[in-house]
Amino acid sequence: MKPKNYSPMEKPISVGTGKFRSSNNNNHSNVWFVVPLFILLSFILLCFDYSALYITDTTDEPASSSSFSDTTQKKPVSPRDEPTTKDVNVSRLLDEPLPDSCSGRYIYLHDLPGRFNNDLLHSCSLITRGTENNICPYLENFGFGPEIQDPDNVLLKQSWFSTNQFMLEVIFHNKMKKYTCLTHNSSLASAVFIPFYAGIDMSRYLWGFNISVRDSSSHELMDWLVKQKEWSRMSGRDHFFVAGRIAWDFRRQTDNESDWGSKLRFLPESQNMSMMSIESSSWNNDYAIPYPTCFHPSSVDEISEWQDRMRSRKREYLFAFAGAPRPEYKDSVRGKIIDECLESDDQCYLLDCNYGKVNCDNPVNVMKVFRNSVFCLQPPGDSYTRRSMFDSILAGCIPVFFHPGTAYAQYKWHLPKNHKSYSVYLPVKDVKEWDIKIKERLLEISEERVVRLREEVIKLIPSVVYANPSYGSEGNEDAFELAVKGMLEKIEEVREMMRQGKDGGEGFDDRDDYKYTFSPYEAQVLT
Ligand SMILES: *[C@@H]1O[C@H](CO)[C@@H](O)[C@H](O)[C@H]1NC(C)=O
Ligand SMILES: *[C@@H]1O[C@H](CO)[C@@H](O)[C@H](O)[C@H]1NC(C)=O
Ligand SMILES: *[C@@H]1O[C@H](CO)[C@@H](O)[C@H](O)[C@H]1NC(C)=O
Ligand SMILES: *[C@@H]1O[C@H](CO)[C@@H](O)[C@H](O)[C@H]1NC(C)=O
Ligand SMILES: *[C@@H]1O[C@H](CO)[C@@H](O)[C@H](O)[C@H]1NC(C)=O
Repeated sequence: MKPKNYSPMEKPISVGTGKFRSSNNNNHSNVWFVVPLFILLSFILLCFDYSALYITDTTDEPASSSSFSDTTQKKPVSPRDEPTTKDVNVSRLLDEPLPDSCSGRYIYLHDLPGRFNNDLLHSCSLITRGTENNICPYLENFGFGPEIQDPDNVLLKQSWFSTNQFMLEVIFHNKMKKYTCLTHNSSLASAVFIPFYAGIDMSRYLWGFNISVRDSSSHELMDWLVKQKEWSRMSGRDHFFVAGRIAWDFRRQTDNESDWGSKLRFLPESQNMSMMSIESSSWNNDYAIPYPTCFHPSSVDEISEWQDRMRSRKREYLFAFAGAPRPEYKDSVRGKIIDECLESDDQCYLLDCNYGKVNCDNPVNVMKVFRNSVFCLQPPGDSYTRRSMFDSILAGCIPVFFHPGTAYAQYKWHLPKNHKSYSVYLPVKDVKEWDIKIKERLLEISEERVVRLREEVIKLIPSVVYANPSYGSEGNEDAFELAVKGMLEKIEEVREMMRQGKDGGEGFDDRDDYKYTFSPYEAQVLT
């Protein structure tokens, strides 16, 4: 399962996702109502006492962005604490201090030297791996990439972008700049975010560079971090960063030149920190969060509209697979899947993502197939995970998994613990013993169960998209908000251990290969 030279074509499309806490429109309207209310309140507060607002500039704000959260306040007014009706008792709000809704959620955003992030973006034209020319176009629109032209109206206008699946670190940073509970006072912060573009940095050196070159930024970053005053408080255990590549790319275990990746995550300082990435490793301080897909909604209405569309689709294919048939996969799960798909006549649609055939990076092509299919097969590729599983969720196409490492052991903050509620599991421990007969197994599933599974999948859409940051982050739980919430909880557990006089390091960076084995999931296999 070690990723070697895996091609970007393996991960056909990506969608950013975010979950909105409630799927009910009444609650959603609060988010919109709060914007004018917030402006009104700010105005009133300013009239009385302008010191009540601590407005500070956040750095590097993209010029194109527009949002009520352009500035950070010490005491942001949160929609969740707002009255839900329009007859706000303003005098009450002015008299009593608001409860600090950011308490326990403040994040300090480290101001890193440019070489760790912005300089990499400025030299985007030199970074070409995995894209047609270079990564520059993908940096537009918060890292979502250019808006997609979609004359056939397959997608929703203005909310679909050509998002590169490796841009998570840029997207996450841009969303963090607009996070409601940012603080410039690090002693208030519950967590420290390091906006290091680890994946983009690494992608310059993954192929054909010696290990000292591959590891150089990692060493430099750690040297810089430990010198900051924020480090000592918890020896880095309240620090986290996000990488847009799979965790294995940063987990080189030896100094053998022929080993893959950097050893970023084995540096002693880094072991005290947490990393979120599109696929985690076996180590406890690596966390998986969804791949960015191409759907970046700017309102709850857009999400509901998309969900409704997916609910009402007539689906003409029983199952579909999007991927590249390649000779080297002949004896892999993927090879078997392709064979079964081809043998299933018109019940399976094979979206051939080989170069020159269908462009699977274009979500129009992928959505056209997935929205017409009941099940979408998600075998592991060169690594356990695929962006395609998130595309499948977006399309309301029930994912079929063959390995626990593809989803169940990964996205614990974003997907339900009970995987039977939203997916089908056909474990393949050894491809030599392949005897699955996918079509028969899928046909055994009752229509009633299919409808229930699909509804669960559609309900997951908000939690797996990275919503447009101009939407504001409060009041919804998209993939970003869920990731931040999960991270804050983890850090709080460590802090609690330290409060009790323990080290805080216990189990923090332990290795747990068991979580990627079939055993924990076996008992729950579909009956
Ligand atoms: C607003 O709140 C204040 C103090 O809590 C109360 O005296 C007043 O009656 C309220 N006004 C309205 C319109 O509810
Ligand atoms: C930062 O927060 C701490 C703890 O609340 C406070 O004592 C300190 O004065 C604050 N510093 C600044 C610069 O506001
Ligand atoms: C690694 O490569 C760099 C340039 O690519 C070179 O300057 C350096 O000497 C090499 N280091 C080792 C240990 O080979
Ligand atoms: C480095 O790895 C290669 C390939 O796995 C192996 O052939 C070689 O013996 C290793 N070298 C050392 C010094 O371990
Ligand atoms: C990592 O944390 C441990 C405490 O658990 C501490 O002893 C060690 O010095 C820390 N490492 C660094 C590099 O700060």
